[in-house]
Order: sequence, then C-alpha cells, then structure tokens
Amino acid sequence: MDTRAGAAFDLADKAAYQAWRAAKLAHFPKSLAELVVEVRDPRALSPGERRALLERCARANMAIYASPAGGDPDKEIPRRLGLELGLRELDSNYLADDDGISPLALAERGTRAEFIPYTNRGIKWHTDGYYNPVGRTVRAVLLHCVARAETGGENDLLDHEIAYIQLRDLNPQYIGALMAGDAMTIPARIEDGRVERPAQAGPVFSVDGSGFLHMRYTARAVSIEWKKDAATQAALAALETILGRASPWIFRGRLEPGMGLVSNNVLHTRTPFTDAAPHQRLIYRARYYQRVA
Ligand SMILES: [Fe+2]
Repeated sequence: MDTRAGAAFDLADKAAYQAWRAAKLAHFPKSLAELVVEVRDPRALSPGERRALLERCARANMAIYASPAGGDPDKEIPRRLGLELGLRELDSNYLADDDGISPLALAERGTRAEFIPYTNRGIKWHTDGYYNPVGRTVRAVLLHCVARAETGGENDLLDHEIAYIQLRDLNPQYIGALMAGDAMTIPARIEDGRVERPAQAGPVFSVDGSGFLHMRYTARAVSIEWKKDAATQAALAALETILGRASPWIFRGRLEPGMGLVSNNVLHTRTPFTDAAPHQRLIYRARYYQRVA
C-alpha cells in the first residue's frame, strides 16, 4: 500500500483510501459528548487536558472544552489556549479587532452589522475563510463562548473528512469535480468602486503538503459562483443532500459560557438566536493558518 502523505485522498489509490477510511470510521466519536473535555483553566492546560483535546482533534478534527471561565471577557483565554494547541498565526480580517480575534455578537449598526456573523440570523453550512486566497488558508478555528444567547445560537458540526467519505462512497467522480481548481469562485468584492478583494477561484477539497484534507465550502447562494458543468452540479447536489439530513455524523450543540470549540475548520452552521438581558451572546472567534498540533 502507498504510504505517501495524502495517498488516501488520491482517487487512483483505492487501497490507501480504504485503509484510511476504515481507521477513521472505527475511531470516530459516537456522540458530541465524546468530544467534550473538562479543563480547569483554558489559559493554562494541564498536560492531560491538552492531550485529551489533541486526541479528539486527531479523531474528529474537533474538540470541545468546558471550563469555569464563563463570563470572563479576557481575550487571552482563546489566544493562550490556541497557542497551547500549536495555533500561532491568526488570520486577521478587516472586521476582527487589532489582535486578530473577532468578537462575534449582535451588532446593531456599523460595518459589522452588514455581515451575517454579526447578526442574529442563522448561518448555513460552511467552512471559515472559504473566500481567503491560497496563501491565507484557514486551517483551524477556535470559538470561545463568553456569553450565550437567551435562545438559539446552536452549531451543527460535521468533520469535513466524513463529508469526503460520504461523497466518495457515493461516487468518486464527485470528489474529482470538487477537487478541480475552478470548482468555486468567490467574486471580487467591490466597495466604492475599489476592489477590496479580488475574485478567488479554487477547489472545494484540497490536500496540503503534509497530506491533510482541507475543505472550502459555503451553502450560501450569494457571493459565490459554482462551476456550471454537470459534474460539479451533481457533486454539489449530493453534498447538499448529505448536509441537509440528520445523520449520526452530524453533531449539534450549543456552546455555553466558558466552553469552546477547537477545530481544523470543520463544516458548521449556526442557528438563529435571540438575545435578552442578561443573555447577550458573545463568542470570540480566532482563525489560524496552522492546523491543531
Ligand atoms: Fe463559521
């Protein structure tokens, strides 16, 4: 069997894929609860807590921590936790604060209010930073909950490697179509006649230099152009079906204060939420160029 990094994602290498697939499914968590690790202080993990988080990320590309830090707005919490897991380089977008960490909360006005993460609306399936250029690929995302909403604000989560397996098992040609470099294009963002962000064409699935699978995707219909050929359209329809129905692979949960999600940028959604004092949702979001160690 071929043991090259990434051989499992080579459509020509069925044996490598089958071996990787069997191991992945055998170790995959059966429930959201299996992803949760209690941590005493997220700013300073114990070796055992760190190991437990890394082990879950290795199995499912995500882990959830639960800590007594709820209500504490200190941004050092996500920053230091990220560092402990090997997450060093933050992707700063122009809506993030200067430290690169975005305080996701309902913005009533201002620039942020125009962007869906800063509203209380639901957000469809996506991976973060799908519109980033290749040199700024978001490989990991950390969400830390300071305060929850009165109602709603849950996340559905799906390991993108599982989505890959589901698609490849249905039809390997779906994978071929979604690995094409022109599968999806994010149109340029023009503001006041100026190009704020050039158009970005790229694949949905790609394999990095270390052999890890990366996924760029959004179910949003606006600000995205999909390749119009039949192969891409069929692959997209299959992916939508997978994402649109409940399955043992999709986990739903809500981050409570002090909890957080560490992930290798897995597929996720957010349900709509309503704030009512004293419950005003505040989630810190940090995006990184590294994967979890
Ligand atoms: Fe997101």
